[in-house]
Amino acid sequence: MTPEQFRQHGHQLIDLIADYRQHLAERPVMAQVEPGYLKAALPQAAPQQGEPFSRILEDVDQLLMPGLSHWQHPQFFGYFPSNGTLSSVLGDFLSTGLGVLGLSWQSSPALSELEETTLDWTRQLLGLSDRWSGVIQDTASTSTLVALICARERATDYALAAGGLQAQSKPLMVYASAQAHSSVDKAALLAGFGRDNIRLIATDEHYALRPDALQAAIEQDLAAGRQPCAIIATTGTTATTALDPLQAIGDLAKAHGLWLHVDAAMAGSAMILPECRWMWQGIEQADSLVVNAHKWLGVAFDCSLYFVRDPQHLIRVMSTNPSYLQSSVDDQVKNLRDWGIPLGRRFRALKLWFLLRSEGVEALQQRLRRDLDNARWLAEQVQGADDWQLLAPVPLQTLCLRHCPPGLQGPGLQAHTQAWAARLNASGQAYVTPAKLDGQWMVRVSIGALPTERAHVQGLWNALREAVLN
Ligand SMILES: Cc1ncc(COP(=O)(O)O)c(C=O)c1O
Repeated sequence: MTPEQFRQHGHQLIDLIADYRQHLAERPVMAQVEPGYLKAALPQAAPQQGEPFSRILEDVDQLLMPGLSHWQHPQFFGYFPSNGTLSSVLGDFLSTGLGVLGLSWQSSPALSELEETTLDWTRQLLGLSDRWSGVIQDTASTSTLVALICARERATDYALAAGGLQAQSKPLMVYASAQAHSSVDKAALLAGFGRDNIRLIATDEHYALRPDALQAAIEQDLAAGRQPCAIIATTGTTATTALDPLQAIGDLAKAHGLWLHVDAAMAGSAMILPECRWMWQGIEQADSLVVNAHKWLGVAFDCSLYFVRDPQHLIRVMSTNPSYLQSSVDDQVKNLRDWGIPLGRRFRALKLWFLLRSEGVEALQQRLRRDLDNARWLAEQVQGADDWQLLAPVPLQTLCLRHCPPGLQGPGLQAHTQAWAARLNASGQAYVTPAKLDGQWMVRVSIGALPTERAHVQGLWNALREAVLN
């Protein structure tokens, strides 16, 4: 494709995306296709000769579109919102179009410095002190893995430089709440801790980690000759957006010299609202934290912000310095390859920069406040309705619901919940996530897609009450 052809087709593609967003509400939210539908419709091998761009766009429309569940739809209430604000989409497009890579500062100086600057802007927006430094990772899963590798190395005085974990006499222990995201478990496994050395700590009636149970687990491990190493606390758990008490957890981490990593993948976005910052009170005691700007905040996926208190430690653990990557200015610049796992770095900061500049902080705050308000409204409806239960506090924009008709319990209630959630999703009117809480099925409603206004939440409440009827 020549630049001239790109100009022509690029305009068509932008039109396609703009039309898609403008008319999204007319589509069913959840994909209504059967497994294998697309593979059956596509050729078995790549074409030998190039095809006209119009044919590719035709297939996007006719083959791909029906197979999409629409995350930017106003009736999307599934998982957590993953908002791709259009300003940020343009930043992502520019990043790909420029096609530059950050292997070192010198390999694309603007890439490194824009990342440093936008991360510092965001640090301020989140109300974090200037003792934090940030870098963009792809996902919270990667950020938590990096945190645990750093924790492991701090606890072992850089065992990686000698025999690694194989040379440790005591097993290293990781602690997280029983409500922590599965990525925490995965990160601990990948960082070499081993399943036996992950302690999932009991939670209280609000699904937040119990510091007394954490303390007991640490003391038990110490008494048994194991070495406590890291705590992962969550601000905004995935099931219920529970808030682990960071102050008390931080005190324990400090008393025992443990690494504290805070997973604020979802709830971190709320910290741009000063009135929400109580939710992570004690955050300054942490060693590292992650906020997914690609969730509620609105940066197009993927853009996970990883902040650390001690960048030198991060660099020492992650640094690689082969001769072909060295430059004469290395002592004056940040080489972001030393701040995470991959060597190659996309120009991800562009999509964060485009979002912040194009929307402005006030509009972002306003949108998040709108969503909080809508969640409060829906919580009031559920609490005021016969046969409906709200199963957890609603500090943010996610509600955990159950419809409990009189006399229905046990397996009958489980089947009823799964059936009405499936009916609602299949209707295309809304997309919600059925999930288990305390081993029982319930339905999560996560408000906060970009175009979701009060009328859509009112529509959801009607659809929920209809879905439970048949
Ligand atoms: C609390 C929490 N942590 C981590 C993750 C994983 O995020 P990612 O997909 O960026 O790895 C999620 C995903 O929703 C989450 O809710």
